Amino acid sequence: MGTIRELKKIPLSVRIRQQENSGEEENLMDKFVIRGGNPLVGNIRISGAKNAALPAMAAAILTEEPVILENIPDVRDIQTERKLLVSMGAEVELGYGRASHRTTISCRNLSSPEAAYEVVKTMRASTLVLGPLVARMGRARVSLPGGCAIGARPIDLHIKGLEKLGATITQEHGYIEAAAERLRGGLISFDKITVTGTEDLMMAATLAEGETVMENCAREPEVADLAALLNKMGANIEGAGTSIIRIMGVSKLHGARHRIIPDRIEAGTFLIAGALTGGDITLTSCDPAHLGALLHKLEECGVTVQPGTDTLRITNGHRLHAADLTTEEYPGFPTDMQAQYMTLATQAEGTSVVTENIFENRFMHAQELVRMGANIKVDGRRAVVHGFTPLSAAAVQCSDLRASASLVIAALVADGETIIDRVYHIDRGYERIEEKLRGVGAQIKRIGEILPKRTAAPVGAA
Ligand code: UD1
Repeated sequence: MGTIRELKKIPLSVRIRQQENSGEEENLMDKFVIRGGNPLVGNIRISGAKNAALPAMAAAILTEEPVILENIPDVRDIQTERKLLVSMGAEVELGYGRASHRTTISCRNLSSPEAAYEVVKTMRASTLVLGPLVARMGRARVSLPGGCAIGARPIDLHIKGLEKLGATITQEHGYIEAAAERLRGGLISFDKITVTGTEDLMMAATLAEGETVMENCAREPEVADLAALLNKMGANIEGAGTSIIRIMGVSKLHGARHRIIPDRIEAGTFLIAGALTGGDITLTSCDPAHLGALLHKLEECGVTVQPGTDTLRITNGHRLHAADLTTEEYPGFPTDMQAQYMTLATQAEGTSVVTENIFENRFMHAQELVRMGANIKVDGRRAVVHGFTPLSAAAVQCSDLRASASLVIAALVADGETIIDRVYHIDRGYERIEEKLRGVGAQIKRIGEILPKRTAAPVGAA
């Protein structure tokens, strides 16, 4: 990048931007090379939940005082959210060394209450700033997300809910603009269960005048975690984690310190990797209580998991049995674990019917698994997996975050060396997955496609 003297001529902000940009380019080229066949043995520490950290960071918008969040995972979606908050005028400080998973967010001066298309298109959870911005600033301008790899993913329920709280909504040039001098409490009955919709409106209602009652809410642990943070900030929320949430609005929120819950999807992904590869893995810093549906399904497949207070141990030396699966809202089986389960089903004896109820197009991984030797027939929202089929290494491509995880797991049991392209999808939500897997004995390596600079030929070379 040049000498230190040259670098000093460039303003720090520009240097950071240059570094970030070059990092992004390199990362977009990254691939994983995985040689399958090793049993996994050892401990894996589970990171904080990305899907709890994202709304928690958005919640900082609701107060002028700093919000300190601990156990923030070091993943790309978090970096994206940090950039989004900074673009609005927030100060976001990251801890270093042992405190690298802590972030302090101060939204004292928010100059630009806007989430631009460039951010929303890469991370749909950016729409989580809509509710907090209207509640605190009286206005918000947020890009409409549009479709994505796994389905349409509209935000109509967020918009309808904000209207119920008295916001005026206009739509122009692909952006939603919401305005309200002060939101007022109301009754919101969701037509469909939505996780970020519940979170967005719960945040908005904390600063509304009077009481808000929300019915048919998402019951995910991430919703309850957000409510715990908001209550520490001075909000008055009851019932989060159940389908009815009551929020008594307050005029102001204050700063708080909060530790993000463990990532149940990361834990589930490693459990399935453990079930498939044999060996003996213990997950630490996780919450077994959040993984009920998956543990139950694994048991049905013949795998036993031993839960501790904040640990899960998986050992499996025998054949897996097929079992049907339907994705549902929490506490049902999570759609974010469907792809990884499909990989497991390819290695189970018998036929498993996998039904995807949450998103209309979430079987992109099936064709890649077929290229590795799986026998899967997709018909609309159902996929029929015939097992057991041995998997063999192939060049495959990630299409979305969880689909990528299913390919990594498949590669761990495939015969030969699998090359997985577009791993930037997996970097959105898994913290250094390759290092964690290598730590328990997997043969996995990240390679970038950028060629090393040409160097002078070594002395003596022909
Ligand atoms: C969240 C999770 C994501 C998970 C999903 C379902 C975060 C950051 N992401 O996404 O990992 O896969 O829950 O568990 O927490 N819908 C509408 N209108 C809306 C909102 C949603 O029709 O306004 C539909 C969606 O298209 C989908 C269903 O409701 O079919 C559930 O989506 P939702 O729970 O909102 O997903 P996200 O919150 O985006």
